[in-house]
Amino acid sequence: MTSQTPDRLSTVTQFILERERDRPNATGDFTALLNAIALAGKRISHDVNRAGIADIIGLTGETNIQDEQVQKLDMIANTQLERALAPTGLVCAIGSEEEDEPVQLENGENGRYVVLYDPLDGSSNIDVGAPIGTIFSIYKRKTPVGSTSNSLEDMLQPGRDLAASGYMIYGSSTMLAYTTGEGVHLFTLDPEIGEFILTNSDLKDDGGAKVYSANEGHSLTWDKVDLEWVSQLKEEGYSSRYIGSLVADFHRNLLRGGIFAYPGNSAAPNGKLRLLYEAAPLAFIMEQAGGSATDGKRRILDIQPTELHQRTPLYIGSASEVERIIKMRAHTSTTATR
Ligand code: AHG
Ligand code: MN
Ligand code: MN
Repeated sequence: MTSQTPDRLSTVTQFILERERDRPNATGDFTALLNAIALAGKRISHDVNRAGIADIIGLTGETNIQDEQVQKLDMIANTQLERALAPTGLVCAIGSEEEDEPVQLENGENGRYVVLYDPLDGSSNIDVGAPIGTIFSIYKRKTPVGSTSNSLEDMLQPGRDLAASGYMIYGSSTMLAYTTGEGVHLFTLDPEIGEFILTNSDLKDDGGAKVYSANEGHSLTWDKVDLEWVSQLKEEGYSSRYIGSLVADFHRNLLRGGIFAYPGNSAAPNGKLRLLYEAAPLAFIMEQAGGSATDGKRRILDIQPTELHQRTPLYIGSASEVERIIKMRAHTSTTATR
């Protein structure tokens, strides 16, 4: 990873304001939106760090639309984000991994944005102290401002139309990364003062580490291309690193280089990860850092969503690594048709 190590003390708010000043038609909306998300992140970080003490570990007893058991912290994070975004008046609707349908926000008709998020990614790691996170996407709405948002039309947008995306990771420190299409910027929460402080601006993935992240426990359900791909990496001496939280595996690969894969499989051809609030927002970040992301054939950011919770196979990381798997899959599909 290469980046500019800042020679000044800057909070996320100051950093965005500075960049908004360079844009004459900036409205300050984005500052307010990212501030709201950062505020929710501070609250979630606080809750995550005291989960074991405050009896907020464990299950709610509900199952979500993903057919996954909902953890108490999934819902707490979901609520924190909605409570932080609603008062901005900038968001007409929210799409969440934990909400079956889009959530229209009160007085949201004048909101110019929709926000989609995975409020807590890596839930299975909550009670074992491994890093977890929040992943978010921000789109400009497509329906006219002033109308109650026809939220699905506003939400089912391809990642290439993202206004911004980012993630927060609650690990050994709490960090926030975002992009608006002009580079990736990374901030670290200083819990003493409750501010996200700029730690790296304009992160670039230099492709470095020979690392792959994939859950080989599922490899019996993989197709032969994925099996061939992983054995090639092993022959080339790659190390395997898999935390089981997408946001943590992604963050490591963004900083150090490497490739993350959650392939489709015989049981679930589209794999497990969700396009709108896991794959696309991280693909936008990765491309801005010089890497890339594919479903094995298509650029993730070019996929036109048809459902709010649709899943996609995901290969994301250094551009050369993603290129390799695309070529291998294309080659197999042509030879297979011969
Ligand atoms: P979530 O906790 O939001 O449901 O996401 C979990 C995802 C992702 O974070 C991770 O990469 C993947 O599930 C791990 O799945 P496996 O346990 O099948 O490897
Ligand atoms: Mn997730
Ligand atoms: Mn989640």
